[in-house]
Amino acid sequence: MKADVILGLQWGDEGKGKIVDCLAPDYEIIARFQGGPNAGHTLEFEGNKHILHQIPSGIFRPHTKNLVGNGVVLDPVIFKNELDKLSPFGINLKKSLFVSKKAQLILPSHRLLDACYEKSKGDNKIGSTLKGIGPTYQDKIARLGIRVGDIISADFEKKYRDLVDQHEKILKSYGFEYDLPEVEKPFFEAINFFKTLNLVDTEYLVNNSLKVNKKVLAEGAQGSLLDIDFGSYPFVTSSNTTTPGVCTGLGVAPSRIGKVYGIFKAYCTRVGSGPFPTELEDATGDKLREEGHEFGSTTGRPRRCGWLDLPALKYAIMINGVTDLIMMKVDVLNAFDTFSVCTHYELSDGTITDQMPYDLCEEEIKPVLKHFKGWNQSLESCEDFDSFPKALIDYVHYLETELEAPIRIISAGPDRRQTIFR
Ligand code: GDP
Ligand code: IMO
Ligand code: MG
Repeated sequence: MKADVILGLQWGDEGKGKIVDCLAPDYEIIARFQGGPNAGHTLEFEGNKHILHQIPSGIFRPHTKNLVGNGVVLDPVIFKNELDKLSPFGINLKKSLFVSKKAQLILPSHRLLDACYEKSKGDNKIGSTLKGIGPTYQDKIARLGIRVGDIISADFEKKYRDLVDQHEKILKSYGFEYDLPEVEKPFFEAINFFKTLNLVDTEYLVNNSLKVNKKVLAEGAQGSLLDIDFGSYPFVTSSNTTTPGVCTGLGVAPSRIGKVYGIFKAYCTRVGSGPFPTELEDATGDKLREEGHEFGSTTGRPRRCGWLDLPALKYAIMINGVTDLIMMKVDVLNAFDTFSVCTHYELSDGTITDQMPYDLCEEEIKPVLKHFKGWNQSLESCEDFDSFPKALIDYVHYLETELEAPIRIISAGPDRRQTIFR
């Protein structure tokens, strides 16, 4: 058996949480492989809305094992809060949640450093979620980080103090004001709680399951255009959000990757700073935000909105080796008489291309738009693909031709039920 993957093709918030929850009953294991509490994955069912930050989106499905892989950076305080919120649902954590001993710990001082670096950047700030993601991955790569497995070792406190001493030197050199004791107390409480969880070598769990033909689904966080290598650098996150991240973040060999589901919205959004070629800074952008309730699941910030960007989508499909597409939030376009799609970029020297330029930040890109007539009707009564309005069916066929991949799932509302499988 091979591991399937589901990941975002845009700048995050494509609807990964909803679809992972929908697909989870078909899988034995749902595994996060990168990112951390910068993610906010929303699930809606039975009239309730749940936002998960670090816990995989299979957690509400009985019989599903949820794994947090070695590629993830974990904040124990946020993790404990998330689990506290889940306690009314009677989830058996011993059976359904497993955390890699090799995952890196986000310390309170990593969060302070994130805020300190952002402050020092002034107008050039990344727009980080301030969850300490960048500084934690920085320490991992510098071989200074503390891993989940270290919390049970006798010298954990010493390792912690040594690293925090280094962080304090940096914070002081920036003249950054902070109150460490205040944030350390909940951290050590959460560490004690963490010791009661299943802390394991998740790479064995994943590979042993595949060996006996059990199905594994890797759940991406963020989106491909926020990838540290292929995203709009430096306005990116600090991990590989693309398919290769599954190999390094879970210990799955490249030859064991199966289907790659690429998920995208029928339009585009972005939170935080950085280039966004199809952004609409006008009433149409505001309307997309209102209709799509586009406010961050993690920070509550308004999301920037714009039309679907085919050059960027084609790039993400190429990098990820996407086999199947999932299109989200088509219902948001119900309210539009017409809508547009960017087919090409016009560069400052007049070149028209559907390839991504080296540096999106440097290029003055003018999107070349193709306009579509909307369907202007509710999709509530549509129970299958054929019952969709003709304008929507035509739009899906157009995208499949352009993107050279089949659109297998179409989502027409936030609830589990509002999902059309083809
Ligand atoms: P994720 O980070 O990729 O899991 O996405 P988020 O949860 O951050 O953002 C997606 C938002 O869109 C959430 O509020 C979902 O409840 C909502 N959503 C998901 N699918 C649909 C859909 O098809 N239509 C509408 N209107 N909302 C959706
Ligand atoms: P999900 O999984 C949307 C963005 C931040 C910022 C940049 C770097 O819900 O799709 P970081 O805190 O990672 O250092 O921030 O990345 N960002 C996201 N945007 N969805 C996310 O996750 C994101 N995680 C990070 O806004 O621009
Ligand atoms: Mg999100």
